[in-house]
Amino acid sequence: MSAIVEQCSCKEMSEEEKFALLADVIEDYHRRESNLIQILHMAQAIFGYLPDKVQTFIAEKMDLPISKVSGVVTFYTFFSTSPKGEYTVCVCLGTACYVRGGKKILEKLKEVLEIDVGETTEDMKFSLQVVRCMGACGLAPAIRVNDKVFKRVNPNKIQQILKLYS
Ligand code: FES
Repeated sequence: MSAIVEQCSCKEMSEEEKFALLADVIEDYHRRESNLIQILHMAQAIFGYLPDKVQTFIAEKMDLPISKVSGVVTFYTFFSTSPKGEYTVCVCLGTACYVRGGKKILEKLKEVLEIDVGETTEDMKFSLQVVRCMGACGLAPAIRVNDKVFKRVNPNKIQQILKLYS
């Protein structure tokens, strides 16, 4: 972590401030249903995830049924309804990775982290997700931890990779 980040004295926003900011975002997007995905992206950036109370707030402000908002949230894998860990481990299950052992890597990660896909470890360190392709097909199977892609992974390398983040 850089010295600048360590010295940052920004205060975490209160929940009230977060909702006030979200209300501004919704106004900026003119409360239009066609802007719902962008609004949800902003909401996730503000809150870190999209719990029921945030989805309800958006539905009320945009005058939409809650089922419409929750339907979009559950349809797209990049939206999360639970808090994410410090590190998100994405396992690629695209064709190239799948046929070269992606599923075994996923099973190993579930076993080591003791969580299922979409869950976060109790210490809030790791979340587990699957993706369809991360553009590293030639060096499959691949996983990504936050922004770092690990190529030609096999189940025996998982502990070693996770140790980099402990
Ligand atoms: S299928 Fe896994 S990186 Fe493309």
